[in-house]
Amino acid sequence: MDQEKITLSGTQETMLATLYARAVDSRSPDTVLGDTAAQAAVERIAYDFGKTGMTATTAVGVALRAKQLDDWTTAFLAEHQKATVLHLACGLDTRVQRLDPPSSVHWIDVDFPDVVELRRRLLPEPSGDYEMVASSVTDEAWLSEVPDDRPTVAVFEGLTMYLTKDEGKRLIQRITGRFPSGQLLFDCYGSLGIKLQKCVPAVRNAGATLHWGLDDPYELEGWHDGLSCLDAVRSVDMPGLEKMPSTGRMSMKVMAHLPGFRDVGRILRYRF
Ligand SMILES: C[S@@+](CC[C@H](N)C(=O)[O-])C[C@H]1O[C@@H](n2cnc3c(N)ncnc32)[C@H](O)[C@@H]1O
Repeated sequence: MDQEKITLSGTQETMLATLYARAVDSRSPDTVLGDTAAQAAVERIAYDFGKTGMTATTAVGVALRAKQLDDWTTAFLAEHQKATVLHLACGLDTRVQRLDPPSSVHWIDVDFPDVVELRRRLLPEPSGDYEMVASSVTDEAWLSEVPDDRPTVAVFEGLTMYLTKDEGKRLIQRITGRFPSGQLLFDCYGSLGIKLQKCVPAVRNAGATLHWGLDDPYELEGWHDGLSCLDAVRSVDMPGLEKMPSTGRMSMKVMAHLPGFRDVGRILRYRF
């Protein structure tokens, strides 16, 4: 089969790093996600994945973050059989294939048009009540098309740091203001992570820029009546860190003791 040539750059290109991380993880005998579809997609892409700078340690880190968000999404869907999932900035993430929701769940994958185009060509279209939306998440139009009568979980991984704080706030307020109830599941960088962005090869080599650093997860509670933070898990405390190579485990332990560094990344769960 012909390989896909990549013409993406900047923010869109960074999704190749997280895809590659899940592919690397899938090859491990002690895999976190077992995401073989990520490996199959990587094999179909003509791209120098060395550019992502992904290592055995960072690949496990990306997989563990994805696993936490998968588990929270699964828990939400177990409580709400008839629900909507907004999977924002989906990139080439196979979350819908991994979770395989029942047809009572309306699943919407959203990313920029060039990413969605590539996604259509590379990943098998899931069955069930599934759609892809080709739009910036910051555009106002797409959300008003989503039926507003169901509990809704919005899951967004690797997105907030590419938005400005104002864009992130507006997005969160539009989601929490539209649906009767639901959850927001996402990861964020702390302000130190934003300062150190040039140290992240996937960001630097793609020419992407990070903007929003979130140091106080509880700040968001003031953005919408009833929005409340259920969990704020530091990356250095993620469940499953024992799957990292020993050098990676050691650096996580050291970082966990350094103010600023311990808050460099978090995974967050809110309800509204
Ligand atoms: C680091 S990648 C993460 C992709 C995917 N969530 C994953 O974990 O593999 C960042 C993604 O955010 C998307 N993105 C960034 N800003 C966006 C916006 N304003 N609207 C839609 N997608 C956006 C990019 O196109 C890219 O797919």
